[in-house]
Amino acid sequence: MTESAEKIQRPRTGFDPQQARADFPVLQRRLQGQRLVYLDSAASAQKPHAVIDAELDCYRGYYANVHRGVHTLSQESTSAFEQAREQVRGFLNAADAREIVFVRGTTEAINLVAHSFVAPRLQPGDEIVISHLEHHSNIVPWQLLEQRCGARLRVIPITDAGEIDLDAAAAALGERTRLLSIGHVSNTLGTINPIAELVALARQREIPILVDGAQAAPHLPLDVQALDVDFYAFSGHKVYGPSGIGVLYGRYAHLSEMVPYQGGGDMIRKVSFAGTEFADPPARFEAGTPHIAGAIGLGAALRYLEVQGREQIAAHECALIEEAVQAVAGVPGVRLIGTPKARAGALSFIMEGAHPHDIAMLLDEQAIAVRAGHHCTQPLMERYGVTATVRASLGLYNDSDDVEALVTGLRKVAGIFGLR
Ligand code: ALA
Repeated sequence: MTESAEKIQRPRTGFDPQQARADFPVLQRRLQGQRLVYLDSAASAQKPHAVIDAELDCYRGYYANVHRGVHTLSQESTSAFEQAREQVRGFLNAADAREIVFVRGTTEAINLVAHSFVAPRLQPGDEIVISHLEHHSNIVPWQLLEQRCGARLRVIPITDAGEIDLDAAAAALGERTRLLSIGHVSNTLGTINPIAELVALARQREIPILVDGAQAAPHLPLDVQALDVDFYAFSGHKVYGPSGIGVLYGRYAHLSEMVPYQGGGDMIRKVSFAGTEFADPPARFEAGTPHIAGAIGLGAALRYLEVQGREQIAAHECALIEEAVQAVAGVPGVRLIGTPKARAGALSFIMEGAHPHDIAMLLDEQAIAVRAGHHCTQPLMERYGVTATVRASLGLYNDSDDVEALVTGLRKVAGIFGLR
């Protein structure tokens, strides 16, 4: 590590990313004889020993189905599964563990809200408001409701910097709005959206709010009560937990009035051929055998974040992303896409005359992993007049060495394309 990098990393936050890196076995790999520089955590984060061990312990030590057995293994699995729910509650500072629904991921959480909360309340002409920054998973479920229920999607425009235009947001929210559904952090630009201001606008008009927290949960301390949101969704695999598990937080008053999303085992109180009485939340929304070891692994991931210190992680990543933005902007031929003032975890750019996929492949040859493409945000790409970008995204294990490697790698790529 260079001397300047040392200064940037340690005293600023008291958090040691190199120590954290040692907790992640895959990051010890070398590719083409070089140190692996993993800058694709926005797509999926790597897993620490604590998470891998928690899953292994479950399968090796006490695995059985949950909520269904009086035998010891089932009791132990149930207890670990419900402890994970409590861990999630604490992570979000939700008031009650019954407000935590385990789902497959953010996408399923949003679809659940669309189906069970919004659809039954919609009349033709009613509106759902989102922003131009959204991931496809916060666009397509609402388009399905447009087709099914005659609803309309309204989109809050963004500025060239990649920030939500709050005046336009105020204008978009109206009498017919049935939900404001908004990303907390943009997966492509890293913009941290002004959730407090948006919530205030929505509350003035008594509009419920869903926040897609997939890209915020790994980076920012969260408090759903302080945020005053109705629903909050995030995915396990982006917070260093397993894939195939995620969370929908919903206010109990809403959840208890919502119809089930899927029918099956474990979501009922009583079934007869004459009809079914549904279980109370969260079981009502957890039909079928859940991802038991996944939930337990997610609990372990959130415990790991807590031990590392969420404020410290946020401070470290905030300093590092700023450092990365400055450094990448200085590479010949690079144009940053979006220059938001508040940013977490990710930056996007293009390079004159070079296709993002070629850049990503040339970086991969240098053991640097980034994502290239539209990042499931095609409307956002269109807004900037591009079809793809290169995205570098950070996790708690990244440090100034990774930023330096990225910039050195990009300078090589620029040289290949004749950019000086
Ligand atoms: N949503 C993930 C990303 O932004 C897959 O890459």
